[in-house]
Amino acid sequence: MKMKRIPIVMDCDPGTDDALAMLMVHGAENIDLRAITTVAGNLNRETTAQNALNIAEYFDIPVPVAKGSYPIMKKFEALDTSIMGAGGLGNAVLPKAQREFSPYNSIELLHQEIQKAPGEIVILATGPLTNVALLLSVYLEDRELIKEIVIMGGAVYHGNHTPRTEFNIYTDAEAAKIVFQSGIPIKMIGTDVTYRTSVTKSDLDSLLAGGKRISRFIGDLMFYPGSEQHPFPEEGIYIWDGLAAAALICPECMEWKHVFVDVETRGLLTYGETVADMNNYLKQPPNVHIAFRCNKDIFIGIIRKTIEKIN
Ligand code: BDR
Ligand code: CA
Repeated sequence: MKMKRIPIVMDCDPGTDDALAMLMVHGAENIDLRAITTVAGNLNRETTAQNALNIAEYFDIPVPVAKGSYPIMKKFEALDTSIMGAGGLGNAVLPKAQREFSPYNSIELLHQEIQKAPGEIVILATGPLTNVALLLSVYLEDRELIKEIVIMGGAVYHGNHTPRTEFNIYTDAEAAKIVFQSGIPIKMIGTDVTYRTSVTKSDLDSLLAGGKRISRFIGDLMFYPGSEQHPFPEEGIYIWDGLAAAALICPECMEWKHVFVDVETRGLLTYGETVADMNNYLKQPPNVHIAFRCNKDIFIGIIRKTIEKIN
């Protein structure tokens, strides 16, 4: 029997971990990647778009790639280049793609894909939520037609950018608020699960040792000077967006809690916080499934399959 594949659009800001997530969804048997839309986040919008196009061409990912937006209300602040390297892909350097970008911008391309498959598209968002919020604001009708949004972002207990915020949500909290309040089913893969799922070089050594160019590419993406820049470097690295891809490919590998979440956009110290009502004080209907744990063996197994599948 033919497996039903989940049609998705990936909205991303590559970025080392976005790059791995792109490959994971491209390689997954149960995912039908239909388009890649990019957004400013880790780097400016030209660089994230160019990185995505280069990766798509180098690994034969046959889908359109579009350029996206800068934050809606806030001045854009890229991630410090010491974190992912100046080009945003760690030690990896790819040839500049010969392919052209989609003639449409990220918002238009998302809209077109949603209209082609009403009620079916899942958006995998691994960057700031600017494009998705603009889509939901410009094309109101699409709110009813998106099946789900799987988000790498947010923090219930520990931030990775400010004490209580995660980078993607902090970068455009107004956009995140629009998305979290949209009523569309949301899965949030935030720091609560990523901080519990660190990966060491030895966890991946056997996978990265093979002579395949994808193994070398992932090694260069993940392990470079600076990749251990996080609160607990001895524990390994956090593959933030890779976990969001894994949540889409295999939701059963995560433990979820269904709660009400809203985004703080006014706080002096808390701007960008995803406020999760874990004890149901507000008596609001739950709107977000938050991942709290991931089966690391399954996660690494998905990376293994990606490497086996792609040349
Ligand atoms: C998120 O921020 C970016 O730096 C990563 O690509 C990931 O999407 C982690 O907070
Ligand atoms: Ca990202």
